[in-house]
Amino acid sequence: MKVAVIGAGAVGTAIAAKIVERNLADVVLVDVVPGLAEGKALDILHASPILGFTRTIRGTTELEACLWSELVVVACGRTRQPGMTREELLEQNAATIREVAATLRAYAPGATVLVVTNPLDVMTWLVAEVTGFPRKRVLGMAGVLDAARLRYLLGQELGVAPKDVSTLVLGSHGEQMLPLLGYTFVGGVPVKEKISQAQWDELVRKTREAGADIVRLLQKGSASYAPAVSVVEMVEAILLDQKRILVASVWCDGPYGIRGAYLGLPVLLGREGIEAIQELSLSQEELLCLQRTAKEIEGLFAKVASLRA
Ligand code: 2OP
Repeated sequence: MKVAVIGAGAVGTAIAAKIVERNLADVVLVDVVPGLAEGKALDILHASPILGFTRTIRGTTELEACLWSELVVVACGRTRQPGMTREELLEQNAATIREVAATLRAYAPGATVLVVTNPLDVMTWLVAEVTGFPRKRVLGMAGVLDAARLRYLLGQELGVAPKDVSTLVLGSHGEQMLPLLGYTFVGGVPVKEKISQAQWDELVRKTREAGADIVRLLQKGSASYAPAVSVVEMVEAILLDQKRILVASVWCDGPYGIRGAYLGLPVLLGREGIEAIQELSLSQEELLCLQRTAKEIEGLFAKVASLRA
């Protein structure tokens, strides 16, 4: 099995390392910066005698090295500077993503593509448009990360292991992300029975701002470890055909009263990519929020489309 990871920044490199560490697939790590992907690949390989993995990893500047990959993770492009929103990366990253997607169309026509580049939902949409791949094979990672952040915060608040907290965060990977109170449980007990509305609202606020907080603290670069772990959770689900139910940024054309937009929804994830979208019963307010978010993402996508040279 071959996975291509495009972008050898902090996120791409961590993803590549975790894929080989778990012996999931051989990896080709690609970055336009001369020597970067090659150097990172060597560094990861030097850990193989200690960690015991046998999968290989190759670093290169050649995008064409993604040839016949089964899965491609797109983790290239700029990250936020302190004070920036993810949407402010739109113009710069759209140009990079167009180029990458055109190469994937030519060299990896059978691949499933998992996008990490921000603004996430719009860049995922752009990959789908440029590659023309069936939309069940083009998805983005955000909900797994946003839910992990909320699970961590709830675990801290309640003094329980975050692993025993489950939740769902739908919508956009941005200001409009939608954590679902009614689908949040602590050891199987609805979280509503354990915290007040005010506590919930505060944890949701912190979850929304978690990525920006890290950008502010680092001053240079953004979160990489938790995003990489979240991506590999999805990579594993796809490569091993696990039929996981995870939130991914997916093409929605009908469910939730949304006609044609990429946004975060719960899906069945397996070897075929998105095998089904799960329809949850939501409150009127939650539904309206999702529909409004879809419109906003549509607006951003129209902006990207109008940038077309
Ligand atoms: C984050 O939320 C990088 O968007 C990513 O940290």
